[in-house]
Amino acid sequence: MVPGERLVSSRAKKVTTHVLQEMKRTGEKIAMLTAYDYSLARLVDGAGVDVILVGDSASNVMAGNDTTVPITLDHMIYHAQCVVNAVDRALVVVDMPFGSYQGDSKLALKSAIRIMKESGGHAVKIEGGKEIVDSIKRILTAGIPVMGHLGLTPQSVHQLGYRRQATDPVAQERLWQRALELEQTGCFALVLEHVPAELATRLSSELSVPVIGIGAGEGCDGQVRVSADLLGLTPQ
Ligand code: KIV
Repeated sequence: MVPGERLVSSRAKKVTTHVLQEMKRTGEKIAMLTAYDYSLARLVDGAGVDVILVGDSASNVMAGNDTTVPITLDHMIYHAQCVVNAVDRALVVVDMPFGSYQGDSKLALKSAIRIMKESGGHAVKIEGGKEIVDSIKRILTAGIPVMGHLGLTPQSVHQLGYRRQATDPVAQERLWQRALELEQTGCFALVLEHVPAELATRLSSELSVPVIGIGAGEGCDGQVRVSADLLGLTPQ
């Protein structure tokens, strides 16, 4: 391979939310990785990764914070701009940071519009279930695709800790219902983080939208990883 040559050839078409739904239908696994800057995003896109997540894990990875709570909307827009500048093929999903959507669907829409307009990202990701359904609905009215995120939701770390979620039958039923609700609300895909593999596998076959797992076993429709973890850059 010559330097700069792309690894992707046969699947060179741009990834959209519809392409992801088609991949789910045909059983093709979805690859999603985080990136927060131009140089890494270029490598990740060139390697053929389907979705690049401008995760709020930038708070930990780029800024060295203990949690994702401090990162701001302005920071997220900056990181997303850097990534968008690098990407030809992948779908770029941008995390809505803590404080930019909770408890106020008008604020959520305003924040999502800023992300789309100022960064050029293609979709937003938002953590939570029932309590954010109004925000998701309002964001969708602007034609902005929304990815959900259930299970371990790091913005709630002070409530949940970093423990595996949905480990008992009651919590599993609650997560199941929340996932169905997010699908019905119109999320185009869901991230499921740190939940039992068996539950994630069953949910993936029940839902018609792609389920992308992290710490949720191999039975999901795709996997997402924080690139710094994959590269062994995360302090233990
Ligand atoms: O911010 C992030 O990197 C994430 C992944 C852990 C899914 O949300």
